[in-house]
Amino acid sequence: MTAEPLERSLDRHEQRTVPAPYPDTLPPVLRTARDSDLSELRRLDEEVFQDVSYPGFLLRQLFDMYEEHFLVLDDGAGRLRGYVLAATRALGQDSWILGLCVTQDRRRHGLGRELMTEVLSRLRRDGIEVVRLTVEPANVAAILLYRSLGFRPEDPDAGLRRDYFGPGMDRQIMRLDLPGRADRGPGG
Ligand SMILES: CC(C)(COP(=O)(O)OP(=O)(O)OC[C@H]1O[C@@H](n2cnc3c(N)ncnc32)[C@H](O)[C@@H]1OP(=O)(O)O)[C@@H](O)C(=O)NCCC(=O)NCCS
Repeated sequence: MTAEPLERSLDRHEQRTVPAPYPDTLPPVLRTARDSDLSELRRLDEEVFQDVSYPGFLLRQLFDMYEEHFLVLDDGAGRLRGYVLAATRALGQDSWILGLCVTQDRRRHGLGRELMTEVLSRLRRDGIEVVRLTVEPANVAAILLYRSLGFRPEDPDAGLRRDYFGPGMDRQIMRLDLPGRADRGPGG
C-alpha cells in the first residue's frame, strides 16, 4: 500500500491575521512523537480538525508506520500544541505531508514553520527527494507557509484537483523538490 494524501478539509479557514500576543509561557519544545503521546495527539487533532480529525485507530497506525517523521510541539505541561506528520512511500524517494497543525493560541509565532523545516530536514537526511501535500484552496495561511518553504502547485491545472476527497472537496496539490544525494557536496 502506498501513502495517500489525507490532509483534511478545513471549512473554518483562518483569515489573514496579525499575530496574537504570545502566551505567557515558554515556547513548546519540538520533538519526535512517542507512543505515550497518542491520546494527547488524538485530542489535539480533534481540537484543530474537529469533524475531519483522524480516527484514533488511524493515528495509531500512522504513528507505527512513520514515527521518525511524526513530530510534536510539547509545552512541557502535558499538552501538545502542534504536530506534523510525513509519510514516505515504501518504494521510491517521495513523501506526503499528511498532517500539520498548531493550536489556535500559538499560531503566528513561527511554530508551523519550525515543524515543517524540521520534518523537511529529516526527509532530506533520509534520502527523500520529492515532498507533496494537499491543501484546501482557500486555506491562505497554510498556502503562504508552504510557498515560503518552496512548495509550488503541481501541474496540471495549477495543482487544482476537483472533488479530490469527494464531491465538493477540491484540493490543491503542492510539491517541493529536495536536493538529491548526488546534488550534495562531500559530507552533505
Ligand atoms: C497552517 C498553520 C500550521 C500555520 O502555523 P503557524 O505556527 O501559525 O505558522 P507560522 O507562524 O510558522 O507562519 C509561517 C508563515 O505562514 C504564513 N501564515 C501563517 N499563518 C498566516 C495567517 N493567518 N495569515 C497569513 N499568513 C500566514 C506566513 O507566510 C508566515 O510567515 P511570516 O510569519 O513570516 O509572515 C496553522 O495556521 C494551523 O494549524 N492551521 C489549521 C490547520 C491547517 O490548516 N493545517 C494545514 C493543512 S494543509
